[in-house]
Amino acid sequence: MRIMSIVGARPEFVQAAPVSRALRRNHVEVLVHTGQHYDHAMSQAFFDDLGIAAPDYNLGVGSGPHGQQTAAMLVGIERLLIQEAPEMVLVRGDTNSTLAGALAAAKQGVPLAHIEAGERCHDRRMPEEINRLVADALAGLHLCASQTGMRNLACEGLSGAAHWVGDVMLDALLHYLPLARSRPSVLGRLGLEQGRYALVTVHRAGNVDDPARLGAIVDALNRAPETVLFPVHPRTRVALDRAALRFADHVRAVEPVAYLDMLTLEEGARLIATDSGGVQREAYYLKVPCLTLRDETEWEETVAAGWNTLVGVDPERILEAWAGCSPPTHHPDIYGDGTASERIVRILEGGVQTPDALERPTLAGEQGACGLEIEVAR
Ligand code: UD1
Ligand code: UDP
Repeated sequence: MRIMSIVGARPEFVQAAPVSRALRRNHVEVLVHTGQHYDHAMSQAFFDDLGIAAPDYNLGVGSGPHGQQTAAMLVGIERLLIQEAPEMVLVRGDTNSTLAGALAAAKQGVPLAHIEAGERCHDRRMPEEINRLVADALAGLHLCASQTGMRNLACEGLSGAAHWVGDVMLDALLHYLPLARSRPSVLGRLGLEQGRYALVTVHRAGNVDDPARLGAIVDALNRAPETVLFPVHPRTRVALDRAALRFADHVRAVEPVAYLDMLTLEEGARLIATDSGGVQREAYYLKVPCLTLRDETEWEETVAAGWNTLVGVDPERILEAWAGCSPPTHHPDIYGDGTASERIVRILEGGVQTPDALERPTLAGEQGACGLEIEVAR
């Protein structure tokens, strides 16, 4: 098989690494980097740590408003699809690079597979929710990390080509953790003590671009009862500067860290507070309690298992949960066993349907996938 894989943002490099390794054993992968993330710390540092092949193409689209950024990706990906004629396109997650890859593939009639399909937060103000809905509507193969993802697809009438495979980010974590542990520890370099600090990441547009929400998060961190290490996403750095927000001495705001150091920092933390989808799951895999700085999460199994608490951005609520945060004893394998990538390759080898061949929502009078009566106006 000849597969075009689209990546562009930090989590996609991590998601791509294990799949790329499994795929390249018997197949050809054409790796396209849209250039959505481009700072060394947001892109090349990941290729270095993960040891993934350099992209065959980098579209260099950079930052910009959603329309401009996505449009530039569409133009570039469409050109490459015509030039490279892959048998299928692989996208993952919910970024603008995912959206552009999905749209370009669909318009060119190239079968599309979506990794991390079916995740929903049911809030369409989140740009990621729009990207997931479109990618899933267009994909001919849905590869789900969670059972909730499978159910969401069923509710949308998209269960025809959905497979539960588990989380490729768990595959990555299990593969790279021994390597991270074998290196001189970043904790020593940063003067941190194992289990005696909290790790924080914040980058969601809904938190960062709203000065009131960002101010509330900073207020909570400034009142936290322990050392806080905060690797700051570039979007957040711009917003902190714009709002002239300052940190107390125990809050250490540093540049974004590369993946292996991040695993070490996550594993060594007493608790993690984040609005990142990837970091919520990594906290779970590493058995570190997590506070999610959002009002909802796609990764609700981590909440149900007791390891993740939704705290929003109200400082009082954050600090109360912070003080009461301790690891539960039960830790079920909710997102698989770290073999999602192998499963994905086996499924891809079975072929991907074009969207028009797929089962779609049933019409009036029939039972929909959720057991609801679907009414259609005629
Ligand atoms: C994007 C994804 C988000 C994902 C996140 C991972 C979308 C809509 N959002 O958000 O789902 O969780 O990546 O980190 O695709 N910037 C730099 N250097 C870089 C990259 C970004 O300075 O290398 C700054 C720019 O000011 C840019 C801003 O960060 O405007 C936002 O970047 P962008 O890629 O648009 O969105 P993210 O917030 O990174
Ligand atoms: N990450 C990292 N360094 C950081 C912050 C995050 O290596 O400073 C990793 C993190 O461990 C996870 C991925 O980046 O593997 C998650 O990316 P991010 O939080 O930017 O996006 P999201 O998962 O929310 O889409």
